[in-house]
Amino acid sequence: KKANETQYNEPYRPQYHFTPQKNWMNDPNGLVYYNGEYHLFYQYNPYGDKWGHMSWGHAVSKDLIHWEHLPVALKEDELGMIFSGSAVVDQHDTSGFFDGKSGMVAIYTSAGETQQQSIAYSKDNGRTWHKYKGNPVIPNPGIKDFRDPKVFWHDKTDQWVMALAAGDRIQFYTSKNLKNWSFASEFGANQGAHGGVWECPELFQLPVKGNPDETKWVLQVDINPGAVAGGSGGQYFVGEFDGKKFTTDQKDVQWVDYGKDFYATQAWNNTGKRRIWLAWMNNWQYAQDIPTSPWRSAMSIPREVSLTKRDGEYTLIQEPVREFSQLREDTRTWGNRMITPKNHLLSDIKGETLEIEAEIRLKTAKEFGFKVRKGSEEETVIGYDTQTQKLFVDRTKSGETDFSEHFPGIYEAKMEPVNHTVQLRILVDRSSVEVFGNDGETVLTNRIFPDLKNQGLELFTEGGNVKLKKLKVHRLKSAWK
Ligand code: FRU
Repeated sequence: KKANETQYNEPYRPQYHFTPQKNWMNDPNGLVYYNGEYHLFYQYNPYGDKWGHMSWGHAVSKDLIHWEHLPVALKEDELGMIFSGSAVVDQHDTSGFFDGKSGMVAIYTSAGETQQQSIAYSKDNGRTWHKYKGNPVIPNPGIKDFRDPKVFWHDKTDQWVMALAAGDRIQFYTSKNLKNWSFASEFGANQGAHGGVWECPELFQLPVKGNPDETKWVLQVDINPGAVAGGSGGQYFVGEFDGKKFTTDQKDVQWVDYGKDFYATQAWNNTGKRRIWLAWMNNWQYAQDIPTSPWRSAMSIPREVSLTKRDGEYTLIQEPVREFSQLREDTRTWGNRMITPKNHLLSDIKGETLEIEAEIRLKTAKEFGFKVRKGSEEETVIGYDTQTQKLFVDRTKSGETDFSEHFPGIYEAKMEPVNHTVQLRILVDRSSVEVFGNDGETVLTNRIFPDLKNQGLELFTEGGNVKLKKLKVHRLKSAWK
C-alpha cells in the first residue's frame, strides 16, 4: 500500500521487509490471522526513534508481503507501557466479551512498577480495542522479568495455554476464559543457554517431515544477551507438551538463526496447518544506533517453519513464505558449468534488491560464495568454507558499520554439504541479507548499510574451482509501491 508519510525510498529503506513509516519499532506482537487478514502488531514508540512509551503499532496484510498501516492499537495506561504479547481469535466467546460471537483478544505485559499480564479485546477486526476492567489478569508474583505472554488454544485439553518468560525460565499457565489463569509448570532450569534473560517464548506443534505419524512441540525462547552471534538471539527446544508441561530429551542448545539480527520471533495464530513466523531484524547490542531515519528497525521476511529428523536429531527448517515469490521479476538462469577464480559470470548483474538461488557442487575450491551489494570499497560476503564446512556472512565491509563496535563481524554456522553440494537461497534488500542454507536448515540474518549505489554481484571461488549446477537471480519488486 502507498505510504503517506514517506515514499519508502530512503537509501536504507527495506523494499520488501516491513518497516513502520517513522519512529522506533521492536518485537512483533499479536500475530494472528482473522477474517482474511494477517495482523502484525509490534512494539512501537509513537513519539520517537528510540525505545520508549512502548505501544502496539498495527498493520494488516492479505498476503504477508504487502502491508497496510493502521493507527496505533494499544497505548500506555495507568498500569504502564504495553510490552510484548500475542493475540488470539476467541472463536466461541470463551471470554464473554463478544455476545456469543467471535472476536480478537490481545494478551500483553503491562510494564509499570512491575511487569504483569493484561488483556484487551476488539469486536471490529482489531481496529479498536478495549482494555479489560479486571486487568492485570496475572499480577506480578515477585519476579522482576515477567513478560511476553504467548497464548494459543490447546485442543486436546480444551483450554488456553500461555507461555511466559520469567527470569531465565519459561512458565506455563492455563485458562478457560482468558481472564482467570492458573500456574501449570516451569521449564528451563537444566536446559538451554543462560547467558542472559529469557524473553518472547513461542510454542507450537509441528509434524515431522517424512514421518507422517510423528508430531513434536517446538518451544522457541529468545535470550539477551548470550546468543550464538553475540547479543540477542533465539534458541529452540524440540519435545512434548501435554497442555501443562513441556519436556525434552534435547541435550545441546539449538539456535534458530546464526546471524546477528533475528530476535523476538513470533508465529501467527490461527493459520491452520501452516506455521509462519517472523522476527525483529535487529540486535539489542546496537538496535537504537542503526543509521536509519525517520524510522528504526525492520521485520524479517515471514518464514514458513517445519521440522525434519536426521540421525535422531530434530532440526527446524525455515523458508520464505511462498507468497514472497510474487515479487520476482527479470529472472536470469544459468546451468551446469565450471566456475574458476577468474570468472565474470555475474558482472553485468546489478541490484539493490535481489534473490539468489544456487546449487553449487564442491570441487577443488577452499572457499566460494557470493558477494552482494558490491562497490569498489564495499561488499557483503556470503561464503562457504569447504574445509571447516561452515556457511558464513562477512559484513565487515558492508557499508556503514562504525556506529557500534558490535556491528562489524563475521558470523558462521556449521553446515554439511549434501551429495557434495551446497544449496543457497539469499534475499538481499537495501539494508539486510537473509541466507537460507540447504533448503532452510541453516539460516543467517544480518542487517547491512551499504551505499545505495553499490549494487554489484559476484560469484567467487578461491583456491580452486566449483561446479555450478543451477543458479537463478531474480530482481525483486518493491512491496511498497
Ligand atoms: C524483547 C523485549 C521484550 C519486551 C519488549 C519491550 O525485545 O525486551 O521482552 O516485552 O522487548 O519493548
